[in-house]
Amino acid sequence: RFEAVVFDLDGVIADTAGVHEAAWRRLAAEIDAPLADDIGERLKGVDRRASLDIVLEQATRRFDEAERDALAARKNSYYRERIEQFGPQDLLPGAREAVASVRAAGLKTALASASRNAPLLLERLGIAELFDYVVDANGIRHSKPDPEIFLAAAAGLGVEPSACLGVEDAAAGIASIHAAGMCAVGIGSHEALGAAEAVLPDIAAFDLGAFATP
Ligand code: G6P
Ligand code: MG
Repeated sequence: RFEAVVFDLDGVIADTAGVHEAAWRRLAAEIDAPLADDIGERLKGVDRRASLDIVLEQATRRFDEAERDALAARKNSYYRERIEQFGPQDLLPGAREAVASVRAAGLKTALASASRNAPLLLERLGIAELFDYVVDANGIRHSKPDPEIFLAAAAGLGVEPSACLGVEDAAAGIASIHAAGMCAVGIGSHEALGAAEAVLPDIAAFDLGAFATP
């Protein structure tokens, strides 16, 4: 039996995957870096600097460390322009209900986000009080797919990782959940998230009762 559910934020609770992708596309267009059509899927769950490395894969010139810092900051300013406008309407449909249902069933909830913007997002979305514990990118050293963030969430809740269920929309996130010794629920396509124990089309389909027996 599970004792806690650890949720990813971007693409699971908050409708931000498209905002991240749009900000990267705006930056890429400005520096003439061609992007593949399916780049959005590769950027999910990947931290800011690793995302930049992906965006620069087809770039026509090299960028040194200082330039990369500036590019990552520029992308973040484009992203923040949109996030500053966020409100509860930018929760993914069914997200609040999914987290609330976990608490109503007597389990604990945590948030494990690779984003440095997670505190701002939580405040804008008005859902901070739904989580017993929050880990964001500011509190960890190793990004997904490393297990650190999910292990920190379990430790913060005081629950064994094996008693936690992790919910993620990114392949890197599913790998992080598994490396932490948790079961994984993927939100998205079977094609991208086939490694998860269960895959749901969206968070609205989340039903804790379906995972009663690990
Ligand atoms: C999430 C998103 C990624 C993003 C990462 C870092 O994991 O899925 O697309 O790159 O957070 O976000 P940040 O807000 O710190 O740039
Ligand atoms: Mg995500």
